[in-house]
Amino acid sequence: MGQRLLRRCRAARYGLAAGGVLVAALAGPSPAAGQQDGRTVWDGVYTAEQAARGKVVYDGNCGACHLPDMSGSDEARPLAGDRFMQDWREDTLHTLFVRIRNLMPFDEPATLSEDAYLDSVAYILEFNGFPSGDRELTPDGLAEIRIEGRDGPAEVPSFALVQVVGCLTEDGGGWLLTSSTRAVRTRDPSASTEDELAALGSRPVGTRTFELMNVYPNPASHAGHRMAVKGFLIRDPSGDRINVSSLGMVAAACNP
Ligand code: HEC
Repeated sequence: MGQRLLRRCRAARYGLAAGGVLVAALAGPSPAAGQQDGRTVWDGVYTAEQAARGKVVYDGNCGACHLPDMSGSDEARPLAGDRFMQDWREDTLHTLFVRIRNLMPFDEPATLSEDAYLDSVAYILEFNGFPSGDRELTPDGLAEIRIEGRDGPAEVPSFALVQVVGCLTEDGGGWLLTSSTRAVRTRDPSASTEDELAALGSRPVGTRTFELMNVYPNPASHAGHRMAVKGFLIRDPSGDRINVSSLGMVAAACNP
């Protein structure tokens, strides 16, 4: 890597929140990840010409840090292969697009045109082996295009930042979330807003149980409440756990 590029990447080190989590608000409500309708990245959602334009955008504005082959460097994560799927499957192109548009290039965020950002997403899709089609990717409809593996929809992978909603239940000095919804991805570890919590209240209860780790402060006053929990998911055959980053009360009772 040339000196200039190296310097650019070093500069990018500053500004990461603790734990390397990039914190930035998504514009507007995040789409309901996990919905089963709509298209997926396997349905030819961009064109070859768009990806070719995206390569120019990428090489000029992204490749210095994420590298031309998208294998990543320093803190700039890989954007291709297994790592791409670990980071993005079971989410939508809307999330990927908004994150790139609002946060990238890391040293000069939100400085490219909307089209340039869209084209870069098309190129990332092409590079990851998703097929092109005869319609370009456009801003509307991105929320309906799901990122998933060849085998179709799956559970969110371990170590993903997720949100679940369930009943806070004490269990032998520890805390469980029972009757919980399944884990869906979130990109924001901080507590949900009042509006978001209100919207979650109308969703049906689930059947999952998660063990909650590192819940601070002590949530005893919320025992028996319906809570929205965010944190890092740890999948385990003996029971899935969530390393909690935030809690918010959805309702003062467990059933809606
Ligand atoms: C100056 C270096 C630099 C440049 C240029 C850059 N990135 Fe990044 N990128 C980073 C760093 C650092 C992170 C944050 C660490 C991480 O999450 O990998 C990041 C994170 C990301 C992420 C993950 C965002 C998330 O949700 O956490 C994506 C996707 C991404 N970059 C794509 C791009 C694209 C596309 C471009 C060009 C338009 C670009 N980057 C330009 C350094 C850079």
